[in-house]
Amino acid sequence: MNAPLKDVRPASRAWQPSFEADAYQSFLAGIKRHWGTELYREVVAGAEASQARDPASLEQAMRGNAAYRLYAWLERRVQQLKWSGRWGFSTLVEQQRDQLAPLLEAATRSDRLALDPDLTMPAYITETETHQQPGGLWRDPVNAYALAWYTTGLSFAGSNPDDLVDFYAARIRERCTEIGLQARAILDEGCTAGRSTRAIKRAFPEAQLYGCDICEGSLRLGALRNLEEACDITLVQCSAESLSFPDASFDVVASQWLWHELPPAAIRQSIIEARRVLRPGGLFVAYDMMSAVGGPIGEWLLSGYAARNNEPYGHALLHFDWQGALEQAGFTDIRSRYGLPQDPGPGLPATLPPRRLHPMIFVSAVRPGAPF
Ligand SMILES: C[S@@+](CC[C@H](N)C(=O)[O-])C[C@H]1O[C@@H](n2cnc3c(N)ncnc32)[C@H](O)[C@@H]1O
Repeated sequence: MNAPLKDVRPASRAWQPSFEADAYQSFLAGIKRHWGTELYREVVAGAEASQARDPASLEQAMRGNAAYRLYAWLERRVQQLKWSGRWGFSTLVEQQRDQLAPLLEAATRSDRLALDPDLTMPAYITETETHQQPGGLWRDPVNAYALAWYTTGLSFAGSNPDDLVDFYAARIRERCTEIGLQARAILDEGCTAGRSTRAIKRAFPEAQLYGCDICEGSLRLGALRNLEEACDITLVQCSAESLSFPDASFDVVASQWLWHELPPAAIRQSIIEARRVLRPGGLFVAYDMMSAVGGPIGEWLLSGYAARNNEPYGHALLHFDWQGALEQAGFTDIRSRYGLPQDPGPGLPATLPPRRLHPMIFVSAVRPGAPF
């Protein structure tokens, strides 16, 4: 007989590293801190001193700059080392496959998880090892553990990952209050293992919460985490471009860090789908890196980061006409503001911050019509 689901919950908890693995990952975290502070500032100073005034000319001018060469090399290699090598997260997960795979299997028995075994992965998922994760997130369910450990081990931004999603949830709450929306049902798209969805649940304890993602393993892990944290959230495997929910199901459809992973055509289709599943008067939200901070130098560094971290659509997002796409889909009251916990905004800073930060933009729009 299967073990009751509650018995597998504690084992879904985060990484319990050996001394060696902890030392290895801490060493990489130390390099990352140097990369995002002193080295980053040296690169910015070099770029400011150059005569270049657009991203392509900056790349050309800075190619021979020693600080930039090291910065770019570390940006790519430290990420790789976090996954791979003797104490990389993917290696550690592989060593524990026999324990981890059955836990994820058990998660399928949760009545708060709906998987779709017939879902076809789009090429933009299968053609890229996003974030340089070996095998990507979609190929093997246990890869969900590697991503979860990688995120809690030390996020790329070098901060507690819950701070960012709590900031996201607080902004959703703020917008709902501003437009007088009572959010009874909320969908969080691209929810991975539900970190952002749980943050929304903390901000809206009375609402019915749904998370959707295209990758099965993360949803399974999310279902275990939701049980563990006693969070009443339903997780559904479907893509944002083709949501498996009826028309007018939600008061809020939101996503955090989804858009930069999607090609522009997929974003456009996901906006149309969001409008379909929103009730009249409902709120649409996307929280992601839609603009660079600090003009051409900021754009050059952000595009370089996206390329070096295997996020091939990150650059396209900087030039994506989301305002036009939202208008075309019939949204109104379209707003945007900058902000993240370390630099809350709302105005887009004119200059680059003293340490490397992800420039996050909170876009929101309303589906017209009287709420029912
Ligand atoms: C950077 S993560 C989002 C982080 C997440 N919000 C959290 O709190 O951990 C992006 C997620 O989007 C998912 N994704 C990518 N394309 C998608 C699509 N078309 N529809 C739904 N989810 C998608 C990926 O599988 C991944 O889990």
